[in-house]
Amino acid sequence: MDSKPAHCAALRELANQHPDRDIFVVETDANRAIQDEIGSVNWNGKRAVMFLDPYGMEVEWATLEAIAATKAIDVWFLFPLAGLYRQATRKSGDIDKSKRTAITRILGSDAWEGELYSDLGQADMFGGGEKQRTEDVKGLERYVKERLETIFPKVLGPLALPRGEKPQRYSLFLCISNPAPAAIRLATGVADYIFKAGNSS
Ligand SMILES: C[S@@+](CC[C@H](N)C(=O)[O-])C[C@H]1O[C@@H](n2cnc3c(N)ncnc32)[C@H](O)[C@@H]1O
Repeated sequence: MDSKPAHCAALRELANQHPDRDIFVVETDANRAIQDEIGSVNWNGKRAVMFLDPYGMEVEWATLEAIAATKAIDVWFLFPLAGLYRQATRKSGDIDKSKRTAITRILGSDAWEGELYSDLGQADMFGGGEKQRTEDVKGLERYVKERLETIFPKVLGPLALPRGEKPQRYSLFLCISNPAPAAIRLATGVADYIFKAGNSS
């Protein structure tokens, strides 16, 4: 799925080079399509793997909830950690409305502001004060994993990507929807292999 016609055209061209494979390019807004349509599929006895590969903060929490609700889809989520630490500025006074909205949309709740920021100790004339982010980049990554664990029975990773780049830009997680221990074991075996290969490359 991609919302950009030019990107879909390139994907179709690639698909045409592989006529032996079943490839369907869906030109659409992935948040809308997943949230509106995934629930109408009977997922009983089915399994699927999804890859969410955004540039930035495009993935909506409601999309992740819809995926988790299938109890059938394992989703590789390339979380935009750089997007998060740029929006969640060190000082709370620098978080404008669009930053606040983007963070809440991807984390699914506005509780992050109370959980990630604490007082600097200097109250302003109205009794309120500037707050400072208490978590560094790794702390933000841990926070994201904890959020994902509130809706997925198992979350594996993250793998920091791109390898060797500082500051880290992305965190690759595998979020497993199916709560059955056998399903989690199987997905964990695949994930361990991929994370190990990613860590040694
Ligand atoms: C990092 S690129 C994906 C690259 C692709 N996985 C590949 O390996 O070639 C992110 C893509 O997400 C698309 N995108 C951004 N927001 C979207 C949305 N809401 N729905 C669908 N696609 C979206 C962009 O057009 C862009 O092509």
